[in-house]
Amino acid sequence: MKISAILNNQEKRVAITPETTKKYVDLGLKVILPHNIGVGAGFGDEEYSAAGAVIEKELPEADLYVCVKPSFEVKLKSGSYLIAMLSPFKNQKILEKMAAEGINLCVLEKIPRITRAQSMDVLSSQANIAGYRAVLEGFYEYRRVVPLMMTAAGTVRPARVLILGAGVAGLQAIATAKRLGAMVSAFDVRAAAKEQVESLGAAFIEVENSVDGETAGGYAKEMDADYQKRQSEKLAQIISKVDVAITTAQIPGKAAPKLITGEMVKSMPNGSVIVDMSMETGGNCEMSKENEVVRVGGVSIIGYTDFAARAAYDSSQLFARNVYNFVSLMIKDGKIDPSDEIIQATLFGA
Ligand code: NAI
Repeated sequence: MKISAILNNQEKRVAITPETTKKYVDLGLKVILPHNIGVGAGFGDEEYSAAGAVIEKELPEADLYVCVKPSFEVKLKSGSYLIAMLSPFKNQKILEKMAAEGINLCVLEKIPRITRAQSMDVLSSQANIAGYRAVLEGFYEYRRVVPLMMTAAGTVRPARVLILGAGVAGLQAIATAKRLGAMVSAFDVRAAAKEQVESLGAAFIEVENSVDGETAGGYAKEMDADYQKRQSEKLAQIISKVDVAITTAQIPGKAAPKLITGEMVKSMPNGSVIVDMSMETGGNCEMSKENEVVRVGGVSIIGYTDFAARAAYDSSQLFARNVYNFVSLMIKDGKIDPSDEIIQATLFGA
């Protein structure tokens, strides 16, 4: 049984590391990797070789291919498995074509959020790093001091940070901004988020008379027009005093809710920053542009889509372990057995 990885020059992260290479070898798999597979994340060919991989010039033929996000220009063996974040909403057509060519597609975003699958949950591991990195990007762009400083020359007040959406990325953003000394407040439509936000020492912002916006699956639901109006009014009141806003709000399978209007942006203080983490699903701010930093008056709006990849070494370590845990579940007695419900839940077209 051979396992390989697909090199995508547009993506710094890698789905196999020297650490997981050794684990695959211990599992009885032959690891054959294209040259320079880990270079963007900081892993050299010699580290993979030392861990037991064979390095080849081109993409080798294999039974299992792993990747963070493939570029789709590659030709894979019919009957093989491709295990990656495949963005099925965005890539529906190309995935249908690959499936018709006999490629088994494991969509990692579809891993169920059940306890047994937590060690495979790429969305969580990557959102965690992304939330941390978004704070660093935002504070770098902010250009002012973040913590309170009391000096003989006077006092510097702490930065006021607002986090919209307190899921995995948002909670990590709260923790990171607090550690750096900011005054943090946060908001989410799920009532359960209040306790989590407060346990991290941030203030929770409430929209009056609201119902819980959580679905049975633990995700957010789209809120009705009346709620959206009240939420927007509340946000308009507070955003004019915010120095750095980090938005992470998402609704599974739908466009991200537009929370920050152009008017709100204009009301923000000179020098303030918005970090829009939801650009892959359309963004939370009306004025964000994908993969750009736009300036609206004195406000900078960051619309990157690669926050986790901006810390590629660590996000790759976590991603590769998630993928190893997934693959080890599908290898039984040296053969591929996709019968486990977790594997089945990820299969495209199943
Ligand atoms: P996500 O990436 O889908 O969304 C980010 C956040 O935006 C969520 O907290 C959501 O409630 C919030 N949001 C949506 N619309 C909003 C609006 N209009 N205004 C403000 N906030 C809005 O969420 P993520 O990070 O994937 O987590 C979703 C849930 O899943 C959380 O409850 C989390 O704790 C849970 N979870 C469970 C895991 C498990 O294995 N059991 C693993 C990871 C997360």
